[in-house]
Amino acid sequence: ALPEDSMDKPNIVTCTAPVNIAVIKYWGKRNEDLILPINSSLSVTLHQDQLKTTTTVATSRSFQEDRIWLNGKEEDITHPRLQSCLREIRRLARKRRNDGEAGLNLTGMSHKVHICSVNNFPTAAGLASSAAGFACLVYTLAQVFGVEGELSGIARQGSGSACRSMYGGFVQWIMGKKDDGKDSLAQQVEPETHWPDLRILVLVASAERKQVGSTSGMQTSVQTSCLLKHRAESVVPERMVEMIEAVQTKDFTAFAELTMKDSNQFHATCLDTYPPIFYLNNVSRQVINLVHRYNRHYGETRVAYTFDAGPNAVIFMLQQHVTEFVQVVQHFFPPDTNGGQFIKGLPVSCASLSKDLEQAIGLEPMPKGISYIISTKAGPGPCVVEDHLLGSDGLPK
Ligand code: DP6
Repeated sequence: ALPEDSMDKPNIVTCTAPVNIAVIKYWGKRNEDLILPINSSLSVTLHQDQLKTTTTVATSRSFQEDRIWLNGKEEDITHPRLQSCLREIRRLARKRRNDGEAGLNLTGMSHKVHICSVNNFPTAAGLASSAAGFACLVYTLAQVFGVEGELSGIARQGSGSACRSMYGGFVQWIMGKKDDGKDSLAQQVEPETHWPDLRILVLVASAERKQVGSTSGMQTSVQTSCLLKHRAESVVPERMVEMIEAVQTKDFTAFAELTMKDSNQFHATCLDTYPPIFYLNNVSRQVINLVHRYNRHYGETRVAYTFDAGPNAVIFMLQQHVTEFVQVVQHFFPPDTNGGQFIKGLPVSCASLSKDLEQAIGLEPMPKGISYIISTKAGPGPCVVEDHLLGSDGLPK
């Protein structure tokens, strides 16, 4: 048993969790409440050195109510998806206790929680933050309540794509068949160490927020797009098999082509939605052209793009082509000269663009089309850290 006085001190844990980018997209639910998808999907977990969410959860007998602070601002704890995650973790914790698996943290089970979460990247950049956010919340709650094992099914109930952020490297979300969603889980295909030459660039296209959110966008798509139905039933199942094979054999050409085709099909289903949804803008389309012209110049697929529900491009390539491709991007999207550094994250060496390549691409430059590049790679899943965001009073520091 714990000493009596420790019961008034908050039990506190802090964890970090990564962002993931889908190369086979999730778009459409068969169950809105449980967040069950109409197709499986596959993603690459991005490295937390560049993009991560940090979450502290504290429990204490003295807390009056559950509370949450996101990026410095107190938010509504009654948010249904937040409540789902809290309820499911508490349910698992109770189940463990009833099963007699006495853990150290059981004293705090009935206590209220204080949650504080921050991103190390600007939310305004329009990078998917809900995946990292819910993955981090669920992982941290599980630590606090002493719950172990499969947690992706709970993260999924916060945000579908969050289940894939529960693992590092290359991750599939198996759609499952059951009505209760028990078999709709994420699974690691290969760890982050599997493909060390694979590099990732996030091209931040604009600071504007997306117009149509994923949740409502995919709802309209399920209701109106027969292309989406065809995609889910007849395209994705085969593509998942091919993509897993491409990842396992480190076949960049196959990986890149499947990635681009799947992104394009996802955006085609958005256009097939009625009324249509547009996530790509002129900058996005210029990036697509640039990648295809670059690849055509070399007569091989050296670079791939993918876009989620917004205009930012995520680019995949092998290490040996990073320097040159960054030069190309910088030339065709001349950055704002008074701005900060154009390339953040993993270092990229400087070089000058050959006239030959410049002419072969032959696009009209779009000044300030891209505000900055985040240079990163595949990374690990959630982990526990020491630096807490809540003080001993249970309030944000
Ligand atoms: C285009 O996971 O944000 O990024 O489940 O409603 O929270 P909800 O949606 P969300 O959708 C992500 C859609 C996507 C593709 C993907 O990540 O697979």
